[in-house]
Amino acid sequence: MKNLVVLSGAGMSAESGISTFRDAGGLWDRYPVEQVATPEGWMRDPSLVTRFYNERRRQLLEVKPNRGHELVAELEKDFNVTVVTQNVDNLHERAGSTRVIHLHGELTKVCSSRDPGNPHFVRELRPEEYEVRMGDRAEDGSQLRPFIVWFGEPVPKIEEAIAYVERADILVIIGTSLNVYPAAGLLHYAPPRAEVYLIDPKPVDTHSARPVTVIQKGASEGMKELLGLLKPA
Ligand code: APR
Repeated sequence: MKNLVVLSGAGMSAESGISTFRDAGGLWDRYPVEQVATPEGWMRDPSLVTRFYNERRRQLLEVKPNRGHELVAELEKDFNVTVVTQNVDNLHERAGSTRVIHLHGELTKVCSSRDPGNPHFVRELRPEEYEVRMGDRAEDGSQLRPFIVWFGEPVPKIEEAIAYVERADILVIIGTSLNVYPAAGLLHYAPPRAEVYLIDPKPVDTHSARPVTVIQKGASEGMKELLGLLKPA
């Protein structure tokens, strides 16, 4: 089977009702990014940050995967699929995708605020624990913090993602403005022979001269069109 890598961003989940970051009315218009998505914001006001991510987790319980997520999961019938997502929701998994690399962390997990990179202190929350409180502690005794990669922090999963992209026969980019590195640079690791597809309702600058088949549609419609173009064998 051919190796197919999906690189997804916020647009993948837009049709599920989760807003993107940089579109008008997006999350970063409504919440100052430096307050809720940087280590400095956390140090200044951890309870505000905790509330922000509690709200994001509550939303997870109200949304469901859209047709786009489902069609990505269905690709596994014909391809050896790896999903590399910048999204912190769990909609790819809930749609049935089995190998999902979360570059920017996961809403359903928490970690130590003293040692966020230490996998030993990372813990999956059950839905009834989604409301994290100040005073809830990681196993090292520090305040629990969201298991989210904030701006200015290392992206430990990028090496694993690169390894999959380097072996890709097909790369499908869906719903990302490609503004944020290192995720935006993954395309450059695709072998020259790899076919590259991009699904997004708006034009996206890939910062690359290589040929890309652009499907200028939303995730669900775009995935449907992609399935008609892909040749499994
Ligand atoms: N289907 C597909 N794509 C869509 C849809 C849709 N229905 N609606 C919007 N989009 C596209 C937008 O046109 C845009 O190109 O999704 C993209 C969303 O871009 P951003 O909001 O910049 O989100 P993303 O690229 O995922 O951001 C990357 O930045 O803020 C950080 O850590 C955060 O993971 C995030 C990272």
